[in-house]
Amino acid sequence: MIKNVIGPGIVIYKNIFPESMNLVKRYEENIGDSWYDAATNDSDLYHGSSRFCKNFLYSDTSLEKNSKNSKQLIELYNEVMIKIKECLLDYEKDYPVKVKYFEALNVVKYSVNDFFNYHTDDGPDVRYTVSCVAYLNDDYDGGNLHFKFFDINYKPEIGDLAIFPSAYSYAHAAYPIINGTKYIFALMTDRTAKGHRSDQYK
Ligand SMILES: [Fe+2]
Repeated sequence: MIKNVIGPGIVIYKNIFPESMNLVKRYEENIGDSWYDAATNDSDLYHGSSRFCKNFLYSDTSLEKNSKNSKQLIELYNEVMIKIKECLLDYEKDYPVKVKYFEALNVVKYSVNDFFNYHTDDGPDVRYTVSCVAYLNDDYDGGNLHFKFFDINYKPEIGDLAIFPSAYSYAHAAYPIINGTKYIFALMTDRTAKGHRSDQYK
């Protein structure tokens, strides 16, 4: 497992989702027209954020069994979660944290000019401990991941999985896309399921 530590608790696991998994094509085929707009204009760093992108948020239990492409989407979910969980186990060896709660998997698509302004993943409404962001392609310009308070500016490569603390000091942005389309997964986790609604995405 090749990993680069780019900041305190910020680890990039390399080539976790290689091109051979064909994830962009498979997700596009199976999500079809079910992407939804995730545009918000909240500019408050501490209680919200502004972003423009398209999302598809789901878990293995949130899809209706016989809904369109549910079988393929659940297969994809299982393939992806195995890999994220392997990396989290490794991360837990290096840092004093253990996650037991996994939010739904968010597949996100950033087109030209789309972005996610500075925000904290952990917040007053939903509490998270460790954030995971996977990069499914890198054939676009822009879209760097920037950690505001560390001034760490990271240009993602295809297959990277970034794992980092969700806390306020790790406020981060995804820079606007200049050319092409960026595909990522975001998965939020916590030490406990306490305080999380099990029916949130059902
Ligand atoms: Fe985030």
